Amino acid sequence: MTKTCLVTGCAGFIGSHLTEALLADGHVVVGVDNFSSGYVHNMEGFKNHPGFRFYERSITEKELLAELKEKHQELDVVFQLAAVVSVPYSVEHPELTMQVNFEANRDMLDAARRMDFSHYVFAGSAAEYGNEERLPVKEEYAEDAVQLSPYGVAKYKSSTYIEKSGYGCALRFFNIFGPRQDPTSQYSGVISRFVDFGLAGRKMVIFGDGEQSRDFLYVSDVVTSYLIAAGLDKMGRGPLTGIYNVGTGKGRSVRELAAIVAGLTSAPGDIDFKPERAGDIKHSRADVTKINAAGFTAQVAFDEGLAKTVEWAGKSR
Ligand SMILES: NC(=O)c1ccc[n+]([C@@H]2O[C@H](COP(=O)([O-])OP(=O)(O)OC[C@H]3O[C@@H](n4cnc5c(N)ncnc54)[C@H](O)[C@@H]3O)[C@@H](O)[C@H]2O)c1
Repeated sequence: MTKTCLVTGCAGFIGSHLTEALLADGHVVVGVDNFSSGYVHNMEGFKNHPGFRFYERSITEKELLAELKEKHQELDVVFQLAAVVSVPYSVEHPELTMQVNFEANRDMLDAARRMDFSHYVFAGSAAEYGNEERLPVKEEYAEDAVQLSPYGVAKYKSSTYIEKSGYGCALRFFNIFGPRQDPTSQYSGVISRFVDFGLAGRKMVIFGDGEQSRDFLYVSDVVTSYLIAAGLDKMGRGPLTGIYNVGTGKGRSVRELAAIVAGLTSAPGDIDFKPERAGDIKHSRADVTKINAAGFTAQVAFDEGLAKTVEWAGKSR
């Protein structure tokens, strides 16, 4: 059955991939973005698609969902991805971050529920766990976590609001990568930087010993998890309610990442090691038991995802 879906943040990295996938499956997409960190060029592949309608608006506008519902009466699913995405920016602008990443989400969830939308999916984050040292990180660890930024606090407040309401789903993503990721993004720093260095034939720079690790998930797997959460998966998985970690469950070291990217590009194999940066989290890895039980496992291998990312970056230079 085809649905009409709202995708907020549709001009962003992940929102643009989700929109593309929904349109390819025959759904209608109402897209909203204010271009605070997204780009028109991310919408190039679908901006003239007959099933796509775009609104340059902010999710902080109180009556936004009701207005969109009036214009698009079939609107029935919300994917809430729009956010202040930069952690340092959130530290400088805590009020705006709370408005966008929590209050707007809370108000939209309440409105969606009032209007009987069938599904509501929110983009949570591993930042909700702060500097968690117990690995792999389980969903419940966030309950006693100290989030390190307004970004993490607001995402946590949103996820828990959703969980307590018993309506909707919050997907807590760890580190996502793939084509169209903004190289200035706080999440992707390391992958984008290595790809940039690699394509320029420059030596990689690693802060610390390179053994620090992250749970990197390729963007098409992220899209699959969204479709499952909203009950739009073609294999019939989902829908989901509550909070779910989304990752591979595997940690990949920065040193390993550098070696793969060097092999895919013209970068020299030797690495420039610099002193460790204060405050860097050593390891991060999702416990994916809960989302696995819902039928989701990451499908794209790390090196395959990196090869696709390098290919895209090479073309878009
Ligand atoms: N990229 C990652 O590794 C990662 C990890 C965990 C969670 N997330 C979450 O996933 C979501 C998407 O992230 P992304 O990496 O695609 O970032 P992105 O910056 O590419 O996309 C976010 C989009 O939201 C838009 N936006 C921001 N504020 C808005 C507002 N008030 N109204 C309307 N649009 C607004 C931006 O212009 C942008 O297009 C975010 O909620 C982010 O917090 C991302």
